[in-house]
Amino acid sequence: MLAVNPFTPGFGVTPPLLVGREHEIDDFRVALQEGIGAIERITLVTGLRGTGKTVMLNAYEDVAKSEGWVVLSETAGRGVLNRLTHTAVPEALRMLEPNQTQSRITGLSVGGGFGAQRQVKELNEPEPNFRSRMNQLLDAMSPETGVLITIDEIHRDDDIELLGSTLQHLRREGRHVAFVAAGLPSMVQDLLASTHASTFLRRADRRHLGSVSEDDVRQALRVPISHGDRTISDHALSAAVAGTQGYPFMIQLVGQQAWRAAHGEHEISSDHVERGVAQAQRKIGQLVHAPAMADLSPTDRSFLIAMADDAQGPSRMADIAARLGVNSSYAGQYRMRLIDAEVIEPAGYGKVEFTIPYLRQYLREHATADLRHF
Ligand SMILES: Nc1ncnc2c1ncn2[C@@H]1O[C@H](COP(=O)(O)OP(=O)(O)OP(=O)(O)O)[C@@H](O)[C@H]1O
Ligand SMILES: [Mg+2]
Repeated sequence: MLAVNPFTPGFGVTPPLLVGREHEIDDFRVALQEGIGAIERITLVTGLRGTGKTVMLNAYEDVAKSEGWVVLSETAGRGVLNRLTHTAVPEALRMLEPNQTQSRITGLSVGGGFGAQRQVKELNEPEPNFRSRMNQLLDAMSPETGVLITIDEIHRDDDIELLGSTLQHLRREGRHVAFVAAGLPSMVQDLLASTHASTFLRRADRRHLGSVSEDDVRQALRVPISHGDRTISDHALSAAVAGTQGYPFMIQLVGQQAWRAAHGEHEISSDHVERGVAQAQRKIGQLVHAPAMADLSPTDRSFLIAMADDAQGPSRMADIAARLGVNSSYAGQYRMRLIDAEVIEPAGYGKVEFTIPYLRQYLREHATADLRHF
């Protein structure tokens, strides 16, 4: 029988072994335990596509739950504050006080002092807003625990700013609240650059997710393979590790594809790994490179395609400008934008290199007329 493939190359899917993020997770746990002032209670996670932002949010949520906190998890976008106010917080309240509605009705029909008072108060209450709802929830909880709100795919948005300022108020009032948001570097920069961005967000602890070390990748591949009752030779494992280039998404893709290439054989060989890496490269093109390119402006794309004219990096700025037919200061502006977006990085004087593994190869294979569009 074919054993189940343990690897999970899917966006937002927690890997069989999450490696290289122990510091973040430990710091966050300590922050929840430590008290209201702990800086990691407000964290902004950034990283390119496929570096594990969503998976880290899941991990932070697990930490909070294990500490007895209530977790409200949302993706940024239209009406996020509305969803929190009118759905997520009331739902959490219902979970905490399952008999709340019933007890109110009984209280009223009994006509006891408490029930009646409560009803009168409710009639005079203003329309609930996010802040009042949060207060209600926090009041219903045991005082040692708190509420974690996570927001994925954060970007400039009025709701996020309002959310930030409300949480800031709650913290000032001594409430146990935590906030972790994740987004692409360019989106987070844009958010923080907005004049309305609250100091709350600007002061957040920044966690940048990059590639993971070779030793960590080795673990992330070896452990699930052996738990899945298969083996891999050291030589094959080293080739698989190299094939991932430390890129978190590639760990899962290479693992999955090498396992699949073994077709039920007990040992995953170098040959299986070689096929697996080739397949993983193709998949990462569809899953990561194509959407990453779609995030960029046509001019940014042209710049990258001009870089990919070099079969091997780094690329010289002078060559890129010449290929684009622009002057060096114009090319320099795009260089800065792409460095800010973390798609490229400086690589010695007057040179740049791609940060995303295999993007150069992808562009060399796929740079078609529509991508070139200026
Ligand atoms: N530290 C890690 N160790 C092993 N695998 C990981 C790690 N981080 C992420 N992965 C794997 O990488 C893939 C991508 O993770 P995730 O969806 O969290 O990325 P992301 O940064 O949210 O991407 P996007 O910006 O496109 O939303 C998943 O398959 C996940 O299991
Ligand atoms: Mg994500």
